[in-house]
Amino acid sequence: MLILGIESSCDDAACAVIETARPGEARVRASVVANQDEIHRRYGGVVPELASRNHLVTILPVIDDALAAAGCRLGDLDAIAVTRGPGLVGSLLVGLMCAKGLAQALELPMVGVNHLEGHLLAPLLEHRIAMPYLALVVSGGHTALFVVEDFGRYRDLGHTRDDAAGEAFDKVAKLMGLGYPGGRVIDELARRGDSRRVRLPRARLRGAPLDFSFSGIKTAIAMFLAGPDCAGVSPQDLAASFQEAVVDMLIGPTLAAARGLATETIVVTGGVAANSRLRAKLAAAAADEGWRVLAPSLKFCTDNAAMIALAGSHRLLRGDRDALDLDAEANLAL
Ligand code: KG4
Ligand code: ZN
Repeated sequence: MLILGIESSCDDAACAVIETARPGEARVRASVVANQDEIHRRYGGVVPELASRNHLVTILPVIDDALAAAGCRLGDLDAIAVTRGPGLVGSLLVGLMCAKGLAQALELPMVGVNHLEGHLLAPLLEHRIAMPYLALVVSGGHTALFVVEDFGRYRDLGHTRDDAAGEAFDKVAKLMGLGYPGGRVIDELARRGDSRRVRLPRARLRGAPLDFSFSGIKTAIAMFLAGPDCAGVSPQDLAASFQEAVVDMLIGPTLAAARGLATETIVVTGGVAANSRLRAKLAAAAADEGWRVLAPSLKFCTDNAAMIALAGSHRLLRGDRDALDLDAEANLAL
């Protein structure tokens, strides 16, 4: 089955073509992403109205590029999978309407996909992983722990009570004057810094050991920057100290969750899974207790449409389809 995937939930417009015969086994023929960082940079964050307006401009060229890179035409496709939530509703609508138009014109089955399901299954684009597995989804919009029990069966173990981890990276980068998005810049700076230089709190939630909170660390950095102690501290040291605190707050609940499960694998996925310190420290800590850690390669960690096509494939392969009155849902739950 040749599936066209479309993703436009936030500020990336993406399209992919995958080929699959069995759920979870796919060959990515093409995956194209039009990134809008340049547009949102000067505002220090995603401006929803600008994101959706730009999706309108880029979505069709992105689909054309993906088809060309995959070496196929619209007529070769067997089905369409599209993100229908959660996300920015204006952004979601562009991809969803596009998918509906194609599905109707080409008389193809279409399914709506939960963006988080895409992140959870993204590692399967490159790895064989036995289920159940534990997945830490950590991005600009989400920080959550799920058990992937089967295709379509996901158990929510815990999630952030306030900011997502990527949001904390972006907000702290903004406070430090490092630009947007901030995760990669902090990661790079931190490599040359001393993570023990600034003492920062690690938030833990009483009675909810698998939940996360990142609003406190952001405030701690804001107060540190406004206080007298920051004078002698280099940006490298501050970045390293902040990153270490976030990494510790991600690893604690993740290992606690893994201890309660019969799983061999911990998957870390989403934009922040690109973080070099998170990958290294989580892998080392997990290895001590006998788990392997898998993360998708960078292009499948951040938002992409190959993961959306894959997440739609288990339904499409069994003949499922959604009606064309399917709506976008900004707060779609998994
Ligand atoms: O998955 P993604 O592309 O979009 C969402 O669904 O949110 O994730 C983007 C987030 C941003 O917050 C960005 O700062 C963060 O991932 N990020 C990183 C790194 N690379 C991207 N955070 C920490 N370290 C990195 N190397
Ligand atoms: Zn995402």
